Amino acid sequence: MSERLVVIGSQWGDEGKGKITDYFACRADMVVRYQGGNNAGHTVAFDGNKYSLQSIPSGVFNPRTVNVMGNGMVVNPESVVAELQKLHDRGITDYQLYISDRAAMVMPWHSALDGAYESQKGGALIGTTKKGIGPTYSDKYARIGLRMGDLLEPEYFAERLRAALEVKNMELEMLGLPKYGFQEVYDRYMELAAILGPRICDTSALINEAIREPGKKILFEGAQGMMLCCDHGTYPFVTSSSPSSSGVCVGAGVAPKWVDNVLGVAKAYCTRVGSGPFPTELHDEIAHEIRERGHEYGTVTGRPRRVGWFDAVVARYTGMLAGIDNWALMLFDVLSGLDKIKICTAYECDGEVLTAPPSTISRLEKCKPVFIEMEGWKEDITGVRDFEELPEAAKAYVRKIEELTEIPVGIVSVGPDRTQTITLSESLRRF
Ligand code: IMP
Repeated sequence: MSERLVVIGSQWGDEGKGKITDYFACRADMVVRYQGGNNAGHTVAFDGNKYSLQSIPSGVFNPRTVNVMGNGMVVNPESVVAELQKLHDRGITDYQLYISDRAAMVMPWHSALDGAYESQKGGALIGTTKKGIGPTYSDKYARIGLRMGDLLEPEYFAERLRAALEVKNMELEMLGLPKYGFQEVYDRYMELAAILGPRICDTSALINEAIREPGKKILFEGAQGMMLCCDHGTYPFVTSSSPSSSGVCVGAGVAPKWVDNVLGVAKAYCTRVGSGPFPTELHDEIAHEIRERGHEYGTVTGRPRRVGWFDAVVARYTGMLAGIDNWALMLFDVLSGLDKIKICTAYECDGEVLTAPPSTISRLEKCKPVFIEMEGWKEDITGVRDFEELPEAAKAYVRKIEELTEIPVGIVSVGPDRTQTITLSESLRRF
């Protein structure tokens, strides 16, 4: 039987999943994306080069790895073609990539609607990436969306496009946005179909075949983070999919019994892009220092990320929901040089002590973090490869996170490169 590993973001996205996925993708036979779309920005660095991926799985740099964009994704064919072109321009031409015929397809009007919905929200802007992610998922569940497999049948695609345009043009007109003509969209999408068509197939069959094969290593690459989950996150300041390990089942067509090894990627501190409550957020000089040192600016939008201390309330909650077996503690080196480091252990809300996030934004906004303070360390740790060689204060910080979350730290990342990774977990070392 195969070995499987699910890598998920456990905070508000941007935890460093790109690096971790790439780290395991070097050894994986298959890498599967199962939710989200080009709202993700996965940064992968190796051999002194840095690449940014949006929709394409992080295994694309290894010619041996089969990369799958699963049915739970929203796929923008225009942006996939552009992303592939960028990789080609940088010499990445030898890869295997398949796209699910069941994946929802982002259409040109979706990003326009994303922007329009946002501007109608007045003060309560979600701060979406404006890639049309929410509107594409909405159309999928309203059952008026188009899917990648439709591109393989031009007559069927034309029929679905006509039906969608009837509804969407009415909506666009109501919102004062330009309408779309059938022919221009049809012609362009047929051009895109000519490029991507050979990659579109039933990917669930492909994945399940690999699952049954002895010795195969399959990596499921989550995008965004658990606190942006449409069900469990800080709703409505969330994305429109489920970045949890449970998303693998629906979004890749994999039975729950195969989801058995979950790695929760967490920054050693916290960041968030876009709006929404963020209990441990910092507004002082330390936030500025961490933002600059950690290059905390969005990969997709370039927006400065909001910065805060590690939130063990969030970590415990996401650890429980996603069944996290190990943490990958990222950007640990960024904390070097700070005198004191804080960890949030609980929230105080209207005189009550909470150990899990409340469901409403109104309550979460009132939550005050309860902090413990840990000693910082001054040493540069970017060259450390053995956990025991970390400064005592750094080791104590890692052990405290394990204690507070009751989940072991399986990986400590001390820099962006593949080599700057300390692996503590035996099972992760074996994968
Ligand atoms: P959407 O996914 O574009 O609809 O945006 C919804 C929320 O999720 C916004 O706050 C975005 O900033 C956030 N978001 C979406 N994708 C990512 C990501 O990959 N990293 C971090 N935040 C994200």
